[in-house]
Amino acid sequence: MKTCLITGGSGFVGSNFVRHILHKDSDCRVINVDKLTYAGNPANLCDIENDDRYTFVHGDICDPEIIGEIFRNEKPDVVINFAAETHVDRSIGSPDDFIRTDVFGVFTLLEASKQYGVSLFLQVSTDEVYGSIDEGSFQEHDQLLPSSPYSASKAGGDRLAYSYYVTYNLPVIITRASNNYGPNQYPEKLIPLFVTNALENRPLPVYGDGKNVRDWLFVNDHCSAIVFIIKNGENGEVYNVGGSNELMNIEITHSILEHLGKDEELIQYVEDRKGHDFRYSLDCSKLRQLGWEPEHSFPEALAETVDWYKSNEKWWKPIKSGEFRNYYEKHYKLPYANE
Ligand code: NAD
Ligand code: DAU
Repeated sequence: MKTCLITGGSGFVGSNFVRHILHKDSDCRVINVDKLTYAGNPANLCDIENDDRYTFVHGDICDPEIIGEIFRNEKPDVVINFAAETHVDRSIGSPDDFIRTDVFGVFTLLEASKQYGVSLFLQVSTDEVYGSIDEGSFQEHDQLLPSSPYSASKAGGDRLAYSYYVTYNLPVIITRASNNYGPNQYPEKLIPLFVTNALENRPLPVYGDGKNVRDWLFVNDHCSAIVFIIKNGENGEVYNVGGSNELMNIEITHSILEHLGKDEELIQYVEDRKGHDFRYSLDCSKLRQLGWEPEHSFPEALAETVDWYKSNEKWWKPIKSGEFRNYYEKHYKLPYANE
């Protein structure tokens, strides 16, 4: 049986991936190492926590002792590194943890992988490492011009992983995905924030003029792309993973309000994000030519996502009354409570 070490498996994409791979690959066991930061939530995997192919380790990827112990005890074949600090706005306010986890944490995992040997190290990177593009789309060999502390840290981890392939012959693959959406996303990110605010009749804070463009990828499509790349990708290569759904933020905002039958008056234009990247766009022909493509259409998967938050208040209500509330009031300079 193959052992996958999945880091950050209690977060949004990681938890969807753990569930996806256990379901798709009966010959696979999963070790999930997660620090359980504000974004890590054991409830994301409550349905599989008793699966005997699943083991959870509470640990920090920056801690070489814990990571070394996992490698010695569990002898992973494949490492998939999802663990990261991920929210751009938080990286602008306090970049420290981003540099620590998204660069030094990758280093710790690469060192252990080099020392103990693995058949694959997959670094989950992001389209943000390329920076913004007004027209056209980025290909994998384009230069990286990251512009936030988050994307710069991710670019550091991305290139560090590549350097272990070139220098030490470690089997490394890097994926760069666009904006994911789906169930279990921490409600600080655009779609879950706007859906849950609308459900509570709170304002939807649109940055600037709302015309910034993102490409949207349903999280299950991201998961299927990673499984596909593990099987079919080549070591040393980078793969863009996009959803081919470029939309302005304000278009998404209208779709959410329409789906929920809520009033447009909930839209509130607020101060723009500092250094706000205008548009992300990926050319995904490399991965498409290899044979992968997304399965989900945006309107259907957005509706499914909105409905998930609508029927899972018990998941997001406790989050929005805890750490999130302090973050929200400080960041948006808006009172969170409107009771
Ligand atoms: P998330 O913030 O929801 O989850 C991150 C997880 O990592 C959490 O469970 C957290 O507890 C854990 N973590 C953080 N620091 C850690 C540390 N030092 N040691 C161990 N665990 C730690 O993030 P996400 O949206 O699920 O993103 C997962 C990965 O996918 C990240 O690497 C991100 O850069 C990448 N990515 C995300 C998107 C997206 O749109 N969500 C798009 C492209 C790439
Ligand atoms: O592109 C991939 C990246 O997508 C991932 O690597 C990141 O981890 C993930 O957080 C995401 O980054 P973005 O900054 O694009 O996502 P976010 O949901 O924070 O914002 C999406 C867009 O919506 C962006 O243009 C900013 C805008 N926005 C966001 C928030 C939270 C608003 O207008 N208002 C908001 O309150």
